[in-house]
Formats: sequence, C-alpha cells, structure tokens
Amino acid sequence: MSYKAVQKVRVKVPASTANLGPGFDSLGMALNLYAWIDMAISEQTTIDLIGDQMHGIPMDKTNLIYKVAQMVFQEAGVSHPEMYISMYSDIPLTRGLGSSASAIVGALAGANALIGNKLTPYELFQIASRLEKHPDNVGASLFGGIVVAFWDGEKAESIRIEPDPNLEVLVAIPAFQLATEKARGVMPKVVPMKDAVFNLSHSSLLVAALITGNLGMIRHAMKDALHQPYRAALIPGMKTLLEQAENHGALGVALSGAGPTMLALVDQRSGRKAELEGFLKETLAKEGIEAQLLWLRPSSEGVTATALQESDGDLQSFVDKEVLA
Ligand code: HSE
Repeated sequence: MSYKAVQKVRVKVPASTANLGPGFDSLGMALNLYAWIDMAISEQTTIDLIGDQMHGIPMDKTNLIYKVAQMVFQEAGVSHPEMYISMYSDIPLTRGLGSSASAIVGALAGANALIGNKLTPYELFQIASRLEKHPDNVGASLFGGIVVAFWDGEKAESIRIEPDPNLEVLVAIPAFQLATEKARGVMPKVVPMKDAVFNLSHSSLLVAALITGNLGMIRHAMKDALHQPYRAALIPGMKTLLEQAENHGALGVALSGAGPTMLALVDQRSGRKAELEGFLKETLAKEGIEAQLLWLRPSSEGVTATALQESDGDLQSFVDKEVLA
C-alpha cells in the first residue's frame, strides 16, 4: 500500500461535553466551539501558542500535542522527531468542555494526516481512550455528533448518533477551574446497586430518546446518581440548577464532564430561552459565582485535518481573519 504524506496540515477539532446526564464515562457530544492546530514536520521543534488562555502550557517537547504526535509516528512505524506546531483554542481550559481531549484528538488527527493517514480513525480512538482513560470526550471530538462508548481498560468501542437538528445547548462556564482528578476524587469507590440500576435505566432511555428524536423524554432520562450528587459540593448553585432548570425551559440539565460547567439541552423552537439564561445566571450569581453563558450547537463534524499550501498563511492570520473577525 502506498501513502501520501503531506507537508503541513491545519486541524479543526470540536470541544465536547462528557457524562451527558446519566452517561458517566460513556456518553459524549461534540460542541461547535473549536481549537485549531497547524502542524508540520520540520528541522527543529517550534511550538507556538496563540492567545492568552494558553499561558503556562509547555512550549518544549513536554507539550501534550508534541508528545501525542510522536505516539502516532511511533505506532505507524515512522520517525519524525522534529515538528512545527501552532495552536489556538476557543475551548476554555479545565472547565469540563473537553479541552484536553480536543488537544489529544487534534494532535492524533494532525500527525496522522502528515503521514498520509496510516492509522484508521478506530486506531486513533484506541490511543485517545488509552490516554484520557474515558472515551466520551475523545470519541465526540474525533467522530462528532453524540457518541455512546465504553473503554474497558484495553479497548474502546463506540457508536455515533446524529444529533437532532432542534437540539441547542446552553452552557454556563464558571470563572473557576476544576481539575478532573479533583472532581473524580470526591466520588465513592463503590456505589449501591440501586444507583447503578438508576443510571443504567436512565442512560438507556436517554440514548433511545436521542436516537428517536423524543426530546420530551430528555427531562425524565437526563438524571444521574453516580457522580453529580457527590460533585455538587464542588460547584455552588449546581444542586438548584439540577432541580429547577427544567421548570425554566430546559429539556434537561447536567454537569458537563467533570465540571464546573453546567449544561442545559434546549429545543431551539422553545420560546423560553431568555428565561432559562436568566435563571442560570441568577442562580450562580446568588452563590457568588461569575459565569460566562454561551449558546452552542452540537457539532456534527468531528476533527478534520486539511493540507495547507504555502499561500495559506500562518495560523495567527487565519485566526485574525476567520475566527476572531
Ligand atoms: N467522565 C469524566 C469524569 C469526564 O467525569 O470524570 C472528564 O472529562
């Protein structure tokens, strides 16, 4: 088999929400908030991070994107130690919107494109799940849409669902960061059988509702007993939002990933969007939590990597012209 390796690629990778309601570590959705990565094989390694929020991210060979790209080269049996990497992201860091998964998936897809896509999307999904240790964020960023998945410690399997065209997403992104390790640390090692059954039944129902477009069922199905009750103590206002957002126009509400972002699913035909927005904002403000509210859509498209020509210009000028304009 012959492969066509390209010189330089531009990767566009969506953010994601994980743990969609009861789907702890198993149900993710891609969102139309993106990170971009330019990547090339070069004579010496240069890492360029664009934008204020990249502050503190390593710019040497300990950089996550560089390290993940090397894993792809190694897995594919090629040697490409030196790289040019440039990254810009609109995905807030450590907020539960899959920023680390998007970096991993972006690096995998970009490096793979540089070597002529020697690895299959399935193989990339295996590497990504192994790195993240749960497949829902990485699956969504890789395949787009809604992804139902498991990772059993050795392999990951998934099925993608096309999101209903009427689904809209309102996220409230608190100003504070919450590390996934900390949010996992408050969870029990063992749960009662009744909680396991609760999540199993609600998660199955939610998946069926999403496949059949039964948006009205989301309010019954999008409930969780495995992680949200424990994590609520870390996010002031979360309990009230979980209990009451549906009375203010949400189809369902959940913690996004490990938090602290809260996410509401909304029917785009709803006439109560302003009411819901006000409720989220006020509930968090009452607790002294400053939050940015964003209306998003599911992103049907997962990661893409496009070959660049010399005439395409660098990522900074693309961001200035196409993203921030
Ligand atoms: N499923 C993970 C957790 C998501 O809740 O810990 C982290 O991105």
